[in-house]
Amino acid sequence: TPFPHLHFPPPPPTPTPPSQDDLKRVAAHRAVELVESGMVLGLGTGSTAIHALDRIADLLRRGTLTNIVGVPTSKKTEAQALALGIPLVDLNSHPSIDLSIDGADEVDPHLNIVKGRGGSLLREKMIEGASKRFVVIVDDSKLVPRLGGSGLAVPVEIIPFGWEYTLGKLKKLFDGVTGFDAKLRMSKKVGDVEIDVTDNLNYIVDLYFENGIELDLGSISDDILRITGVVEHGMFLGMATEVIIAGKDGIKVMK
Ligand code: 5RP
Repeated sequence: TPFPHLHFPPPPPTPTPPSQDDLKRVAAHRAVELVESGMVLGLGTGSTAIHALDRIADLLRRGTLTNIVGVPTSKKTEAQALALGIPLVDLNSHPSIDLSIDGADEVDPHLNIVKGRGGSLLREKMIEGASKRFVVIVDDSKLVPRLGGSGLAVPVEIIPFGWEYTLGKLKKLFDGVTGFDAKLRMSKKVGDVEIDVTDNLNYIVDLYFENGIELDLGSISDDILRITGVVEHGMFLGMATEVIIAGKDGIKVMK
């Protein structure tokens, strides 16, 4: 080297951009700042909500939070919360919930959201509907100008009895909508194909809207719910009190 007597310090490491999972954790931790000792919490389902569970469990272990009980929105969350030592109760004994924290598949600019890619929409909607405050936690990939616009489905939980009849009714409802499709949700097992069954032993029909939902959300919600055989759908309209969005440039809160 031309200057052997000079020792240059190594360049500082270039920061690696946060992964999508890091962003989910950031949003979840921000939401858990709203949790106070003594609260009844609605515990969400999914890869974002699990970060909130982890954080709550951590604060309970440290004694920062005390006297918390959780109402799980799925069997999976129930098992995760039990493993983490979060005390659980149910909606029957605790019909009024102080705060629910959960992820979402899509969020529109009016705080309407789609949930249920994980199949837990019914229990989520009951528990989040029973909550004084419902905080949605997402990374910024979940933001859409219109629901249904990300190519993901709007799920509808239906009873197994006569499922082909109910599927037919759902298809008929959106007859003529360009790019619309409806499919029974299946899960692939090795060498085998099986119908997905929810925690409530129901089936799920996924509604696809190629261009997002251009119809009035309130009226299509009513129309879907009016079909006998439909139990609930995954559009949560006007339910979220705030949405915490984590992106590369930090956190935004939509209220
Ligand atoms: C499960 C849900 C989830 O909240 C939603 O699918 C988002 O999941 P993730 O946080 O894993 O992206 O509604 O029914």
